[in-house]
Amino acid sequence: MSREARGRRRSGSLYRNGAACTTQIRGEIRGKLHAETIVVGGGVIGCAIAYELASRGKEVILIERARIASETSSAAAGMLAADSETFHTTVMSMLAYESRKRLHQQKEQLELLSGIEIGLQQSGFITPFRNEAEMKKYSDSRRSTVLPTEQIWWDHSKLQREAPWISKETFGALYRASESELLPVNLARAYAGAAQTMGAKVIEGVQNVSLIADSSGIQGVETSIGRLTCKHVVVAAGLQGGEILKQVGLNLPTLPVKGEIAAIQFAKHDADYRPDKTVYADNVYIVPKANGEVWIGATSLPGRSDREVTVEGIQKLLASAAGWVPGIQQAQFIRAWAGVRPSTPDGLPYLGACKCVPGLYTAFGHYRNGILLSAITGSLMADLIAGHSSEELGIDELRPERLSRKEIMQ
Ligand code: GLY
Repeated sequence: MSREARGRRRSGSLYRNGAACTTQIRGEIRGKLHAETIVVGGGVIGCAIAYELASRGKEVILIERARIASETSSAAAGMLAADSETFHTTVMSMLAYESRKRLHQQKEQLELLSGIEIGLQQSGFITPFRNEAEMKKYSDSRRSTVLPTEQIWWDHSKLQREAPWISKETFGALYRASESELLPVNLARAYAGAAQTMGAKVIEGVQNVSLIADSSGIQGVETSIGRLTCKHVVVAAGLQGGEILKQVGLNLPTLPVKGEIAAIQFAKHDADYRPDKTVYADNVYIVPKANGEVWIGATSLPGRSDREVTVEGIQKLLASAAGWVPGIQQAQFIRAWAGVRPSTPDGLPYLGACKCVPGLYTAFGHYRNGILLSAITGSLMADLIAGHSSEELGIDELRPERLSRKEIMQ
């Protein structure tokens, strides 16, 4: 059977609850397994790495403790906000732009090989202001943004023409035409499905992962389904990444930042009030999705790792959102959910090879930009595994041991 046919065979309903739900990626595998690379973690980052390795003809097994995209990736809004996010380092800005570009380039192949539509839409983002002082304060706060942002200014009347659904009280807005967004769970499942079509093994429900390493480096992982042997292990386990690295004496702190998000829907006769562009304001974002819903996010609660949705959190989000898009008050509430972002003390992800354990790599700590940075992370990790150095790839700042060198626990 051709790759395309296999991809189509796995395809299911496209946009139910923001996800293609019928794909089954579950291995009934027990006993000895071997691959050149084992990826630990089936969030969007791990899936993107498996996809990239498989597309380069490499042998890869991806293991996930629960289901694909069941944790942080399922809580994201899916914005590819390379221009709208504030990055304080050149490397992060450059990776964000490159990754957004790659995601657009990958869309067709991903959908073809997986049979899952990722809901990618490039409708542009607007950042609105209530008055001139607010706009100036925002511009000052962005002075540290290291690369020029692609944006144009829309004054009150232009904004009302282009976005008639926005509050009449709005002074003006920055419009960023290159920004886009997608359905995050679909993206992760499409990466996993496409990787499988190209020969990767994707196994869900694999627990109790222990790294096996000796003086010559990584040898594999011990798991609830048995021992898996390999030459390389990539830990892409988000918040659990730090715990796994402790097994080999590395301290890579990973801090939880909980976020709550809600989905609403406009009735057909209220279509004129539905935003057709993402609103990326200082206190809320409002994202019209390809599945017909509008997602409103997100709270930010450092130190919280539970996934409870609070009335207070959702109340605040909906009130802020209705301040910008008044029609939201008439929309139907669909659901709300929460997830936990994996952040790091210096705000940079741990991307690279671990110097003290040859063959061990890390790819976690993407905080609020895992979806945006997925494509470039997949490509960089495949380059590192192929023997390129962090210096050559321009990502030495992100090396995993940067914070722990003095704290290596023996
Ligand atoms: N990606 C936006 C957020 O984490 O809220």
